[in-house]
Amino acid sequence: MEVISSTQEMQQKALALKRHGRTISCVPTMGFLHEGHLSLIRAARTSADILVVTIFVNPAQFGPTEDLSSYPRDLKHDLAICEKEGVDVVFTPGTADIYPEGYSTYIEETDLSKGLCGATRPGHFRGVTTVVAKLFNIVQPDSAFFGRKDYQQLCVIKKMVKDLNIPIRIIGCPIVREDDGLAMSSRNKNLNPDERKEALCLRRALLRAEELVGAGEKDAAVIRESMVNIIEKEPSARIDYIEIRDGETLELVDRVEEGTLIALAVFIGKTRLIDNILI
Ligand code: PAJ
Repeated sequence: MEVISSTQEMQQKALALKRHGRTISCVPTMGFLHEGHLSLIRAARTSADILVVTIFVNPAQFGPTEDLSSYPRDLKHDLAICEKEGVDVVFTPGTADIYPEGYSTYIEETDLSKGLCGATRPGHFRGVTTVVAKLFNIVQPDSAFFGRKDYQQLCVIKKMVKDLNIPIRIIGCPIVREDDGLAMSSRNKNLNPDERKEALCLRRALLRAEELVGAGEKDAAVIRESMVNIIEKEPSARIDYIEIRDGETLELVDRVEEGTLIALAVFIGKTRLIDNILI
């Protein structure tokens, strides 16, 4: 396995591989890898000749009061996992490689990125689309893998690729959960034992929503209210949003039907967690 931190070296290697007719798949991450990331790595492994995993905690997608400094990092452990999974190249640029002094170009999707996490984290998706577009140009992948845990992110990236005619196949992968149902996330590491228990309210609220839908309830407001009640029972929980939207257009809907997205973001103490289900 090769570990490359230079942007230029990574791009030259990728271009040389492409000249020799090799296909490349890419899994962009911010590191502190867990089973959710591994599911993407395993899916990507079989889809191309060369698998590149990128590890970069992207400052541009964190707001000024967000958890950039406390975002968990463990590069040594991440590299050991990648090695074990048969990753060919790990790209680990530094902040100054990606955003050198004087950096001034950003990519912004202006529709799907407005609601949900985009509403409560202004500038977040601008940071995501900018770094992902840059990573695509550097790594030159034929396909790139993203988790549906970040459902809106997946939609925004698919839209960027379509709108900008970027010749890369974007593949969405299912949410991987802990045994008790908590969606895996690097941020779970920041939960204390009490918060870890309370964090299960996200999953409980989604399961309740699913149950109501299964019993024939279609009114989004009724379903949302039942979720609010479950979350508000937990002392450390603060709702960022609970929203019911069309799974494709991400527009708010009043009626829940097949293809409806139910998504939520909840602070458990200081840690912001997200989860969703697609009906
Ligand atoms: P990060 O949070 O590290 O996630 C990297 C990829 O792993 C994303 O596509 C995310 O959706 C996926 N992922 C995380 N937890 C998952 C889970 N429990 N099940 C399935 N997939 C999961 O998302 C980012 O980094 C960044 O925004 C990035 C795209 C790398 C741009 O900086």
